[in-house]
Parts: sequence; structure tokens; C-alpha cells
Amino acid sequence: MTIAAIIGGGVIGGGWAARFLLNGWDVRVFDPDPDAARKIGEVLDNARRSMPGLSDTALPAEGRLSFHTTMSETVSGAVWIQESVPERLELKRKVYQTLQEHCDPGAVLASSTSGFKPSELQGCATRPGQIVVAHPFNPVYLMPLVEVVPTEKNPPEMVVQAKELLTSVGMYPLHVRKEIDAHIADRFLEAVWREALWLVKDGVATTEEIDESIRMGFGIRWAQMGLFDTYRVAGGEAGMKHFMAQFGPALEWPWTKLMDVPEFTDELVDLIAGQSDAQSGHMSIREMERIRDDNLVSMMRALKARDWASGAVLNKHDAKISEEAGMVRRTDQIVDPSLPIVTVRRAVPVDWLDYNGHMTESRYLQAFADATDRLMEIVGCDQAYIATGGSFFTAETHIRHIDETHLGSVIEISTRVLMAEGKKMHVWHEMFAGETLLATGEHILIHVSLETRRPAPFSPEIAKNLEMISAAQSGLAAPDGAGRYVGQPR
Ligand SMILES: NC(=O)c1ccc[n+]([C@@H]2O[C@H](COP(=O)([O-])OP(=O)(O)OC[C@H]3O[C@@H](n4cnc5c(N)ncnc54)[C@H](O)[C@@H]3O)[C@@H](O)[C@H]2O)c1
Repeated sequence: MTIAAIIGGGVIGGGWAARFLLNGWDVRVFDPDPDAARKIGEVLDNARRSMPGLSDTALPAEGRLSFHTTMSETVSGAVWIQESVPERLELKRKVYQTLQEHCDPGAVLASSTSGFKPSELQGCATRPGQIVVAHPFNPVYLMPLVEVVPTEKNPPEMVVQAKELLTSVGMYPLHVRKEIDAHIADRFLEAVWREALWLVKDGVATTEEIDESIRMGFGIRWAQMGLFDTYRVAGGEAGMKHFMAQFGPALEWPWTKLMDVPEFTDELVDLIAGQSDAQSGHMSIREMERIRDDNLVSMMRALKARDWASGAVLNKHDAKISEEAGMVRRTDQIVDPSLPIVTVRRAVPVDWLDYNGHMTESRYLQAFADATDRLMEIVGCDQAYIATGGSFFTAETHIRHIDETHLGSVIEISTRVLMAEGKKMHVWHEMFAGETLLATGEHILIHVSLETRRPAPFSPEIAKNLEMISAAQSGLAAPDGAGRYVGQPR
């Protein structure tokens, strides 16, 4: 089992612990705070309810979490050591001295620092080449970005290894090629923050109005295209050069106060804290974290459907974990064709719930449709085949809701081909959570020509694969409930 050592288990260390654990790593934590286990437990609870459903395939089994009283015990056997102690240089340097006395010299020693340059952290270390910045974003278990900042003291192969390990837990490592205080992303945040302090101080806008100006507008634009692509699009057909020429003169105008910073007085702090309390004081931080997590999951899941930005990172990660979990994608990968085929294994995400606090009915069809899509792929009706002009259309569906399906439940759909002949396929799906049958889906699909939009015979390969599966599965007892009509008494 791969081991990560978490040194400092506060907001960020707790997020890292969740990121590694839910990706199947064992996690060891060192934090002198007697409350650390409780705090990490609460972060993990939130991570468990949001992160697994972000994937369209079940994450690996969770690793083991343990707390340790010495750094030496914590780093024993660890391949990744993540330092997330408070942002004080002398403290971080002292921690590295102790860590390097005990850790494997081949382990990556990564710092979450928001501001320090890696050369400052490497300063008086025993093995400077082992230390690198891996700056994450809160919540670490959901946000893909991690800024990896090395120096020339880090061997290039160590940097490659660090980026690979971060990718393997579903992150997007951005290699910052030139070290600079606060790296890349936090410099933007600092610029926006300074501007916002002025706007509040000058009475131009309240904290709430500033937040509205971000989340109702450019915040969503930035979330999917960033800064330059957003402006490129804004330039229209005339393009980026035109855009820059048009807005260039503003650089000379007093459109920013960034050259001048407001005095950070108690009065300014009280003004902002008071406005922020009025804006959101009615919610606890844990409640706000859950709202934030649910929003992030919903937005990133939407971007997954577009295979775009953070959604593309998630899709790649899903493909990898689904392959590692041995999900079947071709007929010749089926180990025992006489059994139903597992076509879906996934956690129920936050955006699949309804007002009754359980999975909403349309998502049952979505899950069964995903199962049918996977069956089609397995028998040879994949994207390449569809591009040649053949596909399946669903003609009839009957779903039975047998038990409640809850947020975070890992659902598994097993699929049978009850009949496949000529142009018609009769499919039976059963959805389980563990041993509990939650729902069944019965569907008739017609193979069609996408050109004529009319029924057309299966291709020889699809016919052969379906014939093999339905013959092998014919030894199973007829499924209970197949062929029922709606409302039929049991
Ligand atoms: N909060 C953020 O949004 C954010 C984002 C990215 C990076 N960071 C960086 O992450 C680091 C940690 O920040 P945080 O927000 O999690 O702070 P935090 O105060 O929430 O957590 C720090 C933790 O370190 C523990 N600690 C103190 N001394 C220690 C020691 N000697 N050994 C082990 N643990 C010790 C504390 O008990 C605490 O639990 C900082 O370097 C910060 O710049 C923070």
C-alpha cells in the first residue's frame, strides 16, 4: 500500500489526507494539536459525501488513516510527505530538519506553502533536492490544481515523479517554471483582494456586492476558460490583437488601485468582518463548506460532460480508475459470460438528489442508460462503430423502484441480455447497493442505421458478441419482474 505522511493536519493538511485516503493510499498524520483527529475526521466526513460522486466510477477502496506522536514514525515507509504546518519559514525549516533525519531520501517532501519560494524552504536543509513546493487549493480533495514549484536543486526525474504521483490522485499539477513569491494563482488572488479592500474602504461596494460581481459574472467565465481565452472570445472575430488594442488605453487610466495599498487598520478589519457577518453569519462554517462542495461538484460534473478544463482532468482520472478496477469494455474481457456483466459501479453524486433526500427518479434512467451505453460498447457498438453509421435507439423502458438510493451510496448495475435477434435487443439491468436490490431497468433497443433512421440488422461482430452473451447467460433463472406491465399486482 502506498503511504502518504501528512505533517500538519489543519485545513490544508486535512484536505490532503482526504485526497490521498479516498484514492486508496494509507495516510499517517502528525499534528501536535490534541484536536487534530476530530478536525480531520470532520474534513473527511465532508470529503466522503462529496468527492466519490464526482467520479463516474467507484474510487479504489479507502486507505487506512492513522495518527502518530512522532515525525519519525509518521514518515516511516512514506513515498510522499506533505508539509502543511503554519506559514512560518523558521518553523517549516525546523520541521524539514527532523523529517530528513528520518524519512526515505527517495520520498518527495512537498510543502503546501502559499507564499514561500522553494529555494527559501531548501535553505539550510540536509538534502535540498528532496524538497519541492506542491501548493494546493482549498478544498484539496476537490480542487484539481496543485502548483509544483521546483528549483535547480531538484533532480528533474524527482519533479517528474512528483507530478506523476499528484496526477495519480486525480490532481492537475501545474509546473511553475520560475520561482516567485506566492507562485502564480495566489498573485491573482492577492491583486483581486487588494482591489476589493479598497472598494469596501471607499464605500463603493459591500462584501456581498463584491461577491455578487464575481459569482454572477466573470467567476463562472474564469472557471471554464481562464483569463486569456475569455478575453480572446470577447475580442470576437477581430481577435486578440483587436481586443488588446481596444482595451489597452485603460492601462493608462485610474482603473486600479493596485499600486497603492489601503492601510490595514483595525477599523478596516472591523468594517469587513462586520459586513461579512451580516452577509453569511447565519450559516456555520461546516454548512458553508458543504454548500461550497456541492456547488463545486455540480459545476465540475457539468464541465465533465463537456470534457473541458477541470472536467477533462476528472474524465481522465475516471478512465484510469475504471481500468484499474477491471471494468469490462470489450466482449473478450468478460471473465465469465454466464454471469450478468457489471456495467456501472459508481457513487451517487450530490446533483442526483431530490427534495425527498434520495436519488431523483430521472437519475435511475441515467444510471441505466449509462449501463446500456457500456453494454453497447462491450458488444462493439462503440464511438468508432457509431461513426460508421450504426447505433441503437431505445424503444421501450420499464423501471421499478424497489428501495431508496442515498447520497454517496456506491451503486452497482449488473446487466443481462435476455434476447438479441435481427435488429432487436432486450436488456435487463439490476441496480444494487451491496446486497440490496434498489431498482431494475428493462429496455428494448432497436439497432438502426443513422442515415435512414430506420431499423437495420446488427453488424456481424455485434451479432456474434450478443449471441455469445445471451447464449451464455441463458442458463440463469428468468429475472423476477421481467415482462411486468406497469401497476401489475405482485
Ligand atoms: N488555508 C488555505 O487556504 C491554504 C491554501 C493553500 C496552502 N496553504 C498553506 O498550507 C499551510 C497550512 O495552512 P492551513 O490553512 O492548513 O493552516 P492551519 O492553521 O489550519 O493548520 C496548520 C496545522 O499545523 C499544525 N502544526 C503546528 N505546528 C506543527 C508542527 N511543528 N508539526 C506538525 N504540525 C504542526 C497545527 O496544529 C495545525 O493543525 C500553510 O503553509 C499555508 O500557506 C493554505
